[in-house]
Amino acid sequence: MQNRDHVIVAVTGASGSIYALRTIRALLLTDIHIHLILSDYARVVINEELDTGLDFRAPVLPQIRSLYTLPDTLGDMTEYPLKNQAAAIASGSFPVKGMVVVPCSMKTLAGIAHGYSGNLIERAADVQMKERRTLVLVARETPLSLVHLRNMTAVTESGGIILPAMPAFYQKPATFDDLGDFIAGRLLSLFGYSHSLFQQWKG
Ligand SMILES: Cc1cc2nc3c(=O)[nH]c(=O)nc-3n(C[C@H](O)[C@H](O)[C@H](O)COP(=O)(O)O)c2cc1C
Repeated sequence: MQNRDHVIVAVTGASGSIYALRTIRALLLTDIHIHLILSDYARVVINEELDTGLDFRAPVLPQIRSLYTLPDTLGDMTEYPLKNQAAAIASGSFPVKGMVVVPCSMKTLAGIAHGYSGNLIERAADVQMKERRTLVLVARETPLSLVHLRNMTAVTESGGIILPAMPAFYQKPATFDDLGDFIAGRLLSLFGYSHSLFQQWKG
């Protein structure tokens, strides 16, 4: 492995695909090695919400680099099939800094909250909690049922962080990208990475 930080990025089928793409962009610019897992419904929702033309039959990294005109010297990516529970990141011995699920559906939230490990996303999240690493879920649904709230509480009690898909408006976002960068920036901060994705509130 190269001398880069490794972070797992899981994308699920909740609304808010822009948060995923801007987070991936920001992590690549921070020179992170991303371990990417897409759920089946993530692919559906990304194509429903964004006109990126991403083709999931081909590697995602070159497509994202081209979409955002990123230098190919920064960052790296390993992609995993959702069903590959034998992947290296399914084990606590694989040295990642942590994991983000962005956006996180209520279904995947439920699987993580109950330690179900029914696919690689849920298993990798379970590993982060047992290893006491950083796990951030960008949970997205509205309104929230008591089941959703209880599942968020369970994840929080196990050390995970719920970062709801709630961008702030004091930054005066003008584009989808601005909204995405607010969430991406908050995520990077939780991992201790500095960024200039939006202006910090100065009071
Ligand atoms: C266009 C679209 C938007 C959706 N938005 C949400 C959402 O915001 N939150 C949510 O929990 N589920 C949402 N869903 C439903 C999930 O995709 C569905 O529950 C799916 O089984 C989640 O599976 P996954 O977590 O493996 O991706 C949406 C589905 C579609 C097709």
